[in-house]
Amino acid sequence: MIDRCSRTIDYIRISVTDRCNLRCVYCMPEEGIVPMSHGDILTYHEILRICEAGARLGIRKVKVTGGEPLVRKDIEVLIKGLQSIPGIEDVTMTTNGCLLKEKAALLKAAGLSSVNVSLDTLNPERFAEITRRDCFESVMEGIESALEAGLKVKINCAVMEELSKEEVLAFARFSMERRIPVRFIEMMPIGQGKRYKAMENDDLAGILSETFGPLRESREVKGNGPAVYYTWGNETGFVGFISAVSHRFCGSCNRVRLTSDGFLKLCLDSPAGVDLKRPLREGISDGDLLDLMKQSIQSKPESHHFEEDNGEASPNMNQIGG
Ligand code: GTP
Ligand code: 5AD
Ligand code: SF4
Repeated sequence: MIDRCSRTIDYIRISVTDRCNLRCVYCMPEEGIVPMSHGDILTYHEILRICEAGARLGIRKVKVTGGEPLVRKDIEVLIKGLQSIPGIEDVTMTTNGCLLKEKAALLKAAGLSSVNVSLDTLNPERFAEITRRDCFESVMEGIESALEAGLKVKINCAVMEELSKEEVLAFARFSMERRIPVRFIEMMPIGQGKRYKAMENDDLAGILSETFGPLRESREVKGNGPAVYYTWGNETGFVGFISAVSHRFCGSCNRVRLTSDGFLKLCLDSPAGVDLKRPLREGISDGDLLDLMKQSIQSKPESHHFEEDNGEASPNMNQIGG
């Protein structure tokens, strides 16, 4: 559907749980969070009802996120349900990869097309410092299992401080060797992320072109989100830049979010939206659910306001799903 700023909204990001098996320093406090109770999070049936209404409003692409989506029981059952909804063309997932080895084949069989794996460093010690957990090898094995299962894979590298030249080049070489696009994401000042200052993607692009020659924009890598992709020379590697801080991309925003407790969130960094859980549990009809969602999406904010700290505690990313 078209919102009041003439943007086509065809992408929903669904956080299926606020729980996570990692404790990334920019996302979760060390002690973890008090997780929502199982009764508070939407059932798969409720999520599917919302997505059916969404599909009738023009949603075509679904991203399943968390917390960590693979810690939710039988997540492949939800994937299968989502991908069977008429109108839904692409179901993808963003995961930290720790449980991907066990789940990759099941996800593929359920109809998932691709996974974005969060991996902020290729150095196992640094990985343990950032995630406060020691499972670098499981993530690397998870990536291989996903490829073997026939899933498309991209890497998400959230850049929380100065990335060394060696790290940047290591990711580029990894992309070339494994033929996996690596996306650098500027750290957004949301929740725990406020403690870090984004390193600008233009600086990373400078490091890459110094070594590999001029970067050329590429439309070969498929995605639904805000990444812009580049390649160089012989086209064996791809890097993507998600420049959420240095280059605002709200004007072309195509998405809304659903939190695990059923709030339809219209923008990453705004409280705007509507609760869908209560009406669902009070027996709302399909037609009224559709109207409620339509009205709400219509009023999607024009842009985020990272720079304005209104003093309110902003939720951590594990609650929003990125
Ligand atoms: P593709 O389908 O592969 O394009 O996925 P994606 O980039 O949409 O999703 P992913 O979950 O991998 O998100 C990558 C990064 O983009 C995360 O840090 C998200 O928080 C960020 N991101 C996604 N949507 C938005 C948005 O609307 N605004 C901002 N500022 N950041 C976003
Ligand atoms: N800024 C940018 N990206 C973030 N992510 C989590 N928190 C932030 C933040 N503050 C990333 C994760 C994951 C994706 C869904 O969002 O690393 O790859
Ligand atoms: Fe978990 Fe992702 Fe948050 Fe890391 S960034 S703690 S993997 S939800």
